[in-house]
Amino acid sequence: MSEIAKLSFDGNEYEFPVLEGTENEKAIDIAKLRADSGLITLDPGYKNTGATKSAITFLDGELGILRYRGYGIEELAEKSSFMEVAYLLIYGDLPSQSQYEYFSNQITTHTLVHEDIKKILDGFPSNAHPMGVLSSLICSLTAFYPNSLDPNRSKDEVDLSIVRLLAKMPTFAAWAFKNKMGHPVNYPDNSLDYCSNFLKMMFALPAERYDADPVVAKALDQLLILHADHEQNCSTSTVRIVGSSQASIYASISAGINALWGPLHGGANQSVIEMLEAIKADGGDSKKYLEKAKDKNDPFRLMGFGHRVYKNFDPRAKIIKKAADDVLGKLGVSDPVLDIAKELEQAALKDQYFVDRKLYPNVDFYSGIIYRALGIPTDMFTVMFALGRLPGWIAQWKEMRENNEPIGRPRQVYTGANERDYVSMNKR
Ligand code: CMC
Repeated sequence: MSEIAKLSFDGNEYEFPVLEGTENEKAIDIAKLRADSGLITLDPGYKNTGATKSAITFLDGELGILRYRGYGIEELAEKSSFMEVAYLLIYGDLPSQSQYEYFSNQITTHTLVHEDIKKILDGFPSNAHPMGVLSSLICSLTAFYPNSLDPNRSKDEVDLSIVRLLAKMPTFAAWAFKNKMGHPVNYPDNSLDYCSNFLKMMFALPAERYDADPVVAKALDQLLILHADHEQNCSTSTVRIVGSSQASIYASISAGINALWGPLHGGANQSVIEMLEAIKADGGDSKKYLEKAKDKNDPFRLMGFGHRVYKNFDPRAKIIKKAADDVLGKLGVSDPVLDIAKELEQAALKDQYFVDRKLYPNVDFYSGIIYRALGIPTDMFTVMFALGRLPGWIAQWKEMRENNEPIGRPRQVYTGANERDYVSMNKR
């Protein structure tokens, strides 16, 4: 017999089924709440609201668990590759040899973009933030592939859109950087793996040979795996809600990129480095900044600390911290900003304010330090996050479409003026 939750209100009692997920998570199914009682729920920031049932990513914030399709993030980061993880997230299982070859070959052969896209790129001023450029270029795919405007077309067409997204995103990301630098763009090199090709498009200069450092390419591949999905976060929910109106997959992903941009979400990795540099420039006194973060009259927050769902530790941060040490060691980079980061982390972990609020370093606290060591400029950090998150967004969009989910449309508690008569207040 399944469990029931009861609500008493205004002399009436209402019953709601309690659902249980495969990891024993329980949820009160309130789908009939409004029809039965006339009530709605209010949950700012959706802190207690499940928006969907999903079989893609499992996350336990208290125990610090993150799994893609059942596989632990630690194992995937150590043993898998970003291409394999992308397939796993999107299609549900690890690919066989032939599935893997077909999938990665498809992605390799779709990296080139329509030459007219360069005209769009040329229209951006060179100080344009690469995230704005990236989301615009991704959305422009709706114009180059108008069939994608109807997401109800055949499975083959949807698969082709998925391949195009994964293939062209590194090209767009590198071109957004080239626009910033005022350099000519590089075209994709299909003889290279995903990350080496991206690094070449980013850093190769005309008339100079460029070979990506395998240490850098490997570290980048691991970072992309760590970012690949994170269940119903701000940008993923955006992708699902835009897609729920049956907008094109390209429009939905473009919206996700914009949602990721903000400093409370993916933009935190840029903010962390900017914060650490500001502390360094101010004499390196991390204690002073810890006090600022605790002061409720000061808007300053310790960027890279705290998480909506992780209240113990962020498992991705653990892996990234170790990777940061490895990569910096292998590349022989010594970064004073890393020393400030470690000092700040140690001080915060012992501080009662952070302990009481369960604020731990999140994935973005160390990712920026690795990106710096890999030679990625600061305002490209969130673009790197987007590159990693892409398979997750695609998998979530695909799941939402396949489950035929209804259009996302929350309710509200209205707090504005009551009905009033129109009386003009000006002479027009
Ligand atoms: N520094 C100082 N105080 C903080 C911080 C911080 N980084 N984060 C949360 N708090 C305090 C907050 O002031 C509040 O205190 P009080 O209870 O006294 O009012 C309490 O902790 C709870 O914070 P909240 O804002 O209600 O928590 P939230 O779940 O709404 O926000 C968060 C989560 C990630 C937006 C927030 O912790 C934050 O702003 N962190 C810094 C930005 C950041 O690093 N974001 C990246 C998240 S990881 C990448 C991703 O997946 O997007």
